[in-house]
Amino acid sequence: MLKKILVKDFDKFTNRNIATNEAADPLAFHTLFIAKDTIWRNLRAKLSPVFTSGKMKLMFPLMKECAKDLHSYLNKRPNEIIETKTLMKKYSVDIISSCAFGINTDCFKNDNSEMLKMATKLVDFRSFIRSISIFSFFFLPTFVDIFKLTFADKTASDYLIDVFKTTLYEREKKKIVRNDFIDLLSNLRKTETITDSYKFDDDIKMAAQAIAFFSAGNDTTSITLSLTLYELALNKNIQDRLRQEVTEVLHEDEEFSYESIQKMKYLDMVLNETLRKYPLAPFLNRKSDVRYTFEETGFTLDKGVSVIVPISGLHYDPEYYPDPEKYDPERFSDENKKNINPYTYLPFGEGPRNCIGQRFALLVSKVALAYTIKDFLFETTNQTAVPLRFDPGSLFVQNRGGIYLKVVNI
Ligand code: HEM
Repeated sequence: MLKKILVKDFDKFTNRNIATNEAADPLAFHTLFIAKDTIWRNLRAKLSPVFTSGKMKLMFPLMKECAKDLHSYLNKRPNEIIETKTLMKKYSVDIISSCAFGINTDCFKNDNSEMLKMATKLVDFRSFIRSISIFSFFFLPTFVDIFKLTFADKTASDYLIDVFKTTLYEREKKKIVRNDFIDLLSNLRKTETITDSYKFDDDIKMAAQAIAFFSAGNDTTSITLSLTLYELALNKNIQDRLRQEVTEVLHEDEEFSYESIQKMKYLDMVLNETLRKYPLAPFLNRKSDVRYTFEETGFTLDKGVSVIVPISGLHYDPEYYPDPEKYDPERFSDENKKNINPYTYLPFGEGPRNCIGQRFALLVSKVALAYTIKDFLFETTNQTAVPLRFDPGSLFVQNRGGIYLKVVNI
């Protein structure tokens, strides 16, 4: 069923069941996550080349700069107990601000960075009004129209539109090239022709993409990283093995490069297992465009039904992942990986509408882990919550409160 919905008959399940209103919220209307039908198809085709391995490689130096800042921040705090969600949020905001907005936020030096504040505000649905608002987008579309609701927080998105436009203008004026998302989006606009089906004919359409990358990328990356550190602190043998791999590769390579990261197989296994145990988006969503019958079972979905794919349910099913509560990167070794049942591992979704930022997210996370694990030991303390309690009010899967770990400089 999943293969049919997500891949084979994707043309009948193209959209998510999320309300939009172009007049009230042009920003959301033009973002991949929310866009519908032809607009989504054209936008996705236009943006896909922005996320190729080649483009990620060009952004690698920007990622390395932010990882160095993370490293020196930890270096100055020997043996301190650090809240790792906040730590990694500084890192993810630095990277995405650098790659999507072309600005240096320096969150490790500046706790009051506006971008850091906006990153939290943008997707914070905890207040009563905002939680009713997000609920309406999925379940009460008429409310979205009547009250002209916006998906992202308006103050935060207005601020980010301003930042984006200013950088774009500066770039074009001073002819600066950084190989980041802004450059790539601006090149897409420059090479548009009359036959292009989707055009960046308004700056807001380009800003919408940068803001979408910012909101989709910040919390997902920082939570994945902090949960990985948490599991590494609880599983010292896994942490040691990861450190050994990173040290060996860095010893072989003269410089820490994009290729070094590709050699770190255990690092990949570790991240895959974090995303198995903690799928940031607990479910996928599609809407049936037609009345649809599954041939094999005769089961019928009416037109307009919202399909919820329970990622957490699949990732915790002992039939697919024995002893699912156990953190075990071996599940993703070359030998074991091939036995994973198709469509039971879905942290980034599946099919033409899967996560476009997957490569970026994995690379950014690997750079941070490689940089930190080689020189620092992460340990639990009496402030570390074990087990974690999850926060039902959060948009992404994450624990309540912080993740406190002692960071020892080795
Ligand atoms: C660990 C990090 C991340 C996780 C776990 C994650 C997960 C997901 C999931 C589950 C979806 C829905 C896929 C589906 O419906 O099949 C999605 C969609 C999306 N993600 Fe991510 N994501 C991550 C990071 C990022 C980053 C860094 C970016 C941008 C740079 C990004 C941009 C997007 C966009 C734009 C969509 C909508 C795609 C579309 O509808 O065409 N994500 N993500």
